[in-house]
Amino acid sequence: MDDINAKAVIGTNSWGSKAYGKILRGSSAEDSVIREAMEEADRNGLRIYDLAQDYGLGKAQKMFGEFAEEIGGEYIVSAKYTPLSRYRKNCVRRSLEKDLADLRRSYIDIYWLHLPTDTEQHLSEIIELCKEGRIRHIGISNFDLDECKLSKRMLDKAGIPLYGVQNHYSLLSREWEKNGLLDWCRENGVSFWGWAVLEEGLLTDPKTRKPSPISFFMNRQIKKMHELYRVMTAVSKRHDISVAQVAEAYCANKGVVPMCGCRRPHQVRELAEAAEVKLTPAEIRRLEEAADNSGARVLGHDMFRFAVPKKR
Ligand SMILES: NC(=O)c1ccc[n+]([C@@H]2O[C@H](COP(=O)([O-])OP(=O)(O)OC[C@H]3O[C@@H](n4cnc5c(N)ncnc54)[C@H](OP(=O)(O)O)[C@@H]3O)[C@@H](O)[C@H]2O)c1
Repeated sequence: MDDINAKAVIGTNSWGSKAYGKILRGSSAEDSVIREAMEEADRNGLRIYDLAQDYGLGKAQKMFGEFAEEIGGEYIVSAKYTPLSRYRKNCVRRSLEKDLADLRRSYIDIYWLHLPTDTEQHLSEIIELCKEGRIRHIGISNFDLDECKLSKRMLDKAGIPLYGVQNHYSLLSREWEKNGLLDWCRENGVSFWGWAVLEEGLLTDPKTRKPSPISFFMNRQIKKMHELYRVMTAVSKRHDISVAQVAEAYCANKGVVPMCGCRRPHQVRELAEAAEVKLTPAEIRRLEEAADNSGARVLGHDMFRFAVPKKR
């Protein structure tokens, strides 16, 4: 079913105002740099952007819409409905109208239900919008295996394939692989997109990393990661790529579409290259051993569960 062959996806969580970048992300990127990154992505064949209404405190979708219109390239838009409260009639429809206005488009390529809250009601409305042609493909995000199975059954009944699952995955967070969700996706022709494959910068070269409020909290983990960095550096040298690209390539080699927060031209270039790198089974094994032995603790694989109200 997949006419969207996603090799890598540009995350836009860090796009936004200068103040947002500086305070929360440790550095800001000028609008012109983000725009240049979009042009560079185009040149490197990366066309898929992952967005949501709250990214960049509400600014990311508007920036994307403006720049995409100016550049005039062909883009694939991944956007989401985030159910922060219980289902209310037409809540998805109203939210989608705002997305389309911000993104300056008449439809969304892939629309994800961001959390498994009142799944049946929210998905029913998303199915309606898909039948109306406002959404091309449907995905679910932060869902566990049982929730994925339930969603797929619902979509099957409606004659609409489940496009994908978008969950946290990285070299340091492989729970969705260990508990069988990744295999289930593969067996059912469902794409698996991994978010935060760089663990917010933790899986990049510590020598080149800029300090940020996030890295302040990471410092305790970094101390546990010397051996992992050593193995990542050795693999990076062998393939003539950066340490960050090893983390991205690792995911791509595991059948996970790497979603990476990019706001600078070199980052999209590196992401496009990394998605093509073939790691050997021995390299993958050494990376996983070093990651498992590090004992580093990162964002939980199921960290948004607290936002899902108990079933009534
Ligand atoms: N569905 C969900 O619930 C969910 C949740 C979270 C995230 N997401 C999606 O996943 C995307 C990725 O997550 P994220 O942005 O939070 O974190 P991330 O991709 O794990 O890490 C972003 C960090 O990595 C740095 N970076 C990016 N490319 C690099 C490169 N080539 N070399 C060195 N450093 C590099 C960035 O640097 P700079 O500081 O220079 O930008 C930033 O500090 C998000 O943007 C969003 O689209 C989805």
